[in-house]
Amino acid sequence: MLKAIGLQKVYHQGEVAQEVIKNLSLEIKGGEFVSFVGPSGSGKSTVLNMLGCLDTPTKGDIWINDTAITTMSRTQRAHFRGENIGFIFQSFNLIPVLSVYENIEYPLIMVQNLPEHERQKRIMHLLEAVGMVEHKDKTPDKISGGQMQRVAIARALVGQPKVVFADEPTANLDSKTAHMILDLMKEIQRKYQTTFVFATHDEKIVANVDRLITLIDGEIVEDKRMRP
Ligand SMILES: Nc1ncnc2c1ncn2[C@@H]1O[C@H](COP(=O)(O)OP(=O)(O)OP(=O)(O)O)[C@@H](O)[C@H]1O
Ligand SMILES: [Mg+2]
Repeated sequence: MLKAIGLQKVYHQGEVAQEVIKNLSLEIKGGEFVSFVGPSGSGKSTVLNMLGCLDTPTKGDIWINDTAITTMSRTQRAHFRGENIGFIFQSFNLIPVLSVYENIEYPLIMVQNLPEHERQKRIMHLLEAVGMVEHKDKTPDKISGGQMQRVAIARALVGQPKVVFADEPTANLDSKTAHMILDLMKEIQRKYQTTFVFATHDEKIVANVDRLITLIDGEIVEDKRMRP
């Protein structure tokens, strides 16, 4: 489903070049619930952004469902991302002037040939799944952090992606809400065989994934299956 070979990322700051990801290779299977862990600055977000088509590696190749994404143009990559990938961020990244409903609808702007009734059906189904139907007309400033993250999950899923990348999705949530969000993501994984790839420090997520990949200084030092 997802394959990366020899990924390297070098950041340049003035004269100084810093190699933050070093020759990283990995494979993730369809339907896996997997997380990157490791100290702050070890490169988790950098890897997630490259795998999720938000950023490009300095070297190396990435395939998602046998499509090579590293050779694509910027526009092709944006298109591919819209149709295949969902992204959930620590800080929710909702659009403040749009309602809950419109925020969820937003990624579908990229999806052509989707009839209006199908569009509505999908959004309403997701609003129900994340328990936000009654809040659908509110703007993000009128809902809580946990509710914002539920909207962000619905937004990440509306394009029916094969894979969802979630960078610290529970970091800004209280423990009870974090558990709810995690249960919701697991339910979606089971129901639709959606692959979830996390980067996290959260023990609650760590305790629930099938596989843990530990990064230190941009290298995989452990890749451990947590359950059969
Ligand atoms: N845009 C950038 N320009 C320069 N350096 C960067 C940039 N983004 C990240 N870095 C550096 O790359 C390294 C890896 O950062 P990254 O954000 O991937 O770590 P992380 O494991 O996600 O950390 P955290 O747990 O704090 O989120 C760090 O040393 C960071 O300073
Ligand atoms: Mg990070």
